[in-house]
Amino acid sequence: MPFGRCRSGIGEGKGGFVTERVFRILGIPGSLRRESYNRGLLLAAQELAPPGVELELYELRELPLYDEDLERTGPPDPVLHFKQAIACADALLIATPEYNWSVPGPLKNAIDWASRPPATSPLRRKPVALMGASTGISGTIRAQLALRQIFASTESYVLPKPDLFVREAAALFRDGRLIDPETRERIRQLLEALVAWTRRFRD
Ligand code: FNR
Repeated sequence: MPFGRCRSGIGEGKGGFVTERVFRILGIPGSLRRESYNRGLLLAAQELAPPGVELELYELRELPLYDEDLERTGPPDPVLHFKQAIACADALLIATPEYNWSVPGPLKNAIDWASRPPATSPLRRKPVALMGASTGISGTIRAQLALRQIFASTESYVLPKPDLFVREAAALFRDGRLIDPETRERIRQLLEALVAWTRRFRD
């Protein structure tokens, strides 16, 4: 690992007892927008994470455009950081917008970086859950389908169900916070399913 090792996730409880390992989820918002509803979904997921589960957000803004020449001469630090963050996470939770019926450029770019080289990509065998919010009525169905196709290429393990397509998102947020109880409950269920899905691969 170019930036040192993953945090062990083993905590020390009261009296010096070693507590159970934390389950780490890396949340990736597919939008760079400051007031992004998709980032809002992930912030809600942080609040709703079950005990023992930590969700850290990873912003894609610093990643350069993928360039095979740059990869050959040595990927820039933000790329190395990103790949390490994926490698250190037990699972990924992606909240994607839909741009022109597909995956937003920054998110596709990030996946392309992380997918290289394929033999050592941290995306290989990485459990992934998807959700997405749009202001229209499709709720990012097409973008999520496109993501499933991309993650088949990277050999990532995408959680089949439950799906979470958040439509007409503007009405569900107040002051940047997701206030819709039904959507919050569905995020909670998605987190539980992601943890169970990940444990199946460990067992
Ligand atoms: C959109 N939007 C959009 N919505 C949708 O449901 N289907 C689509 O194909 C598109 N296409 C699209 C293209 C581009 C370039 C933009 C900027 C927007 C609207 C989109 O759902 C809306 O802007 C969301 O609010 C974007 O997500 P964030 O930034 O709030 O997370």
